[in-house]
Amino acid sequence: MNSKTIRVKIPASTANLGPGFDTIGMALDLYTWIEMSFSDETKMKLFGDNLKGIPTDKSNLIYKVAQKVFHKAGVEQPNIEIRMYSDIPLTRGLGSSASAIVGALVAANALIEYPFSDNELFQMATSIENHPDNAGASLFGGIIVANWDGERAEYIRVEPNSHLEVLAVIPDFELATEKSRNVLPDQVLFKDAVFNVSHSSLLVAALCTGNLELIKHAMKDGLHQPHRASLIPGMNTILAQAVQHGALGAALSGAGPTLLALVHKNSNEKKGLEQFVMNQFKIENIKVKTLWLKPCLKGAQVVSDELSHPFHHQGTSFKGELKS
Ligand code: HSE
Repeated sequence: MNSKTIRVKIPASTANLGPGFDTIGMALDLYTWIEMSFSDETKMKLFGDNLKGIPTDKSNLIYKVAQKVFHKAGVEQPNIEIRMYSDIPLTRGLGSSASAIVGALVAANALIEYPFSDNELFQMATSIENHPDNAGASLFGGIIVANWDGERAEYIRVEPNSHLEVLAVIPDFELATEKSRNVLPDQVLFKDAVFNVSHSSLLVAALCTGNLELIKHAMKDGLHQPHRASLIPGMNTILAQAVQHGALGAALSGAGPTLLALVHKNSNEKKGLEQFVMNQFKIENIKVKTLWLKPCLKGAQVVSDELSHPFHHQGTSFKGELKS
């Protein structure tokens, strides 16, 4: 049994970017860290407020995903030690489960000397997580345009424009992806499908060419956001008016409830936009946390520098041990 410890840093992700339902994702500079090593018995330690309530036995997602990797590689290793810390809030539409799955895949693969390629890990991540946009963004960083036919996922990574910044507005309530998908209809009108195909295509073209001005025309959705609006009071007004308040475009982040605005990093309207969004949620009596984030260019990576790792910080980002 080898005694090395693998540490992986994995970015959060936002999915859909409006019209690109289950198709377009972007990595964000908000992270989960996972540490994994072989052990005589299975042990898990979860650190920080964001991981409250997550199981620490063999039903833990990280454990189960790691076992899938070992099994596929023909390695028998039932016991591992896992430590995890996350700045990504759970069930808020910022890809926390994709980051956990991707982190488990990358860590387990590294622990057994990399039998699987990045593309194989992407296939595994998508088949577990079902959303290639979240999984791809956390694995590869940048902007991911992807599809998944239930058997195979394809993707192209697009380098985000260096002027892009992101305002994430995170309501203080959770919204399970399942609940947010259950409000979606089984069928859509042909004209709504055409609306989304055209806007999603235009958005991808705008992102590929760095045409930030086009985003406000492209970042419109008729497929999922209208159906989800009742779950996020205030969303319709915010999405309709964000551009007037300085956003390049705005959307529901993944299945929500977080809202996301793309902003030019040099915009002098950033404070006004943030205030506008906060006021709208205040009208609805919803508390929110705002985060200014950047697109994360790097995907999940094995990190060796102990000092870059929050388990070893005292104070600032280290929020205390939750379970052992
Ligand atoms: N594309 C998915 C959805 C994201 O909107 O339901 C889930 O993380």
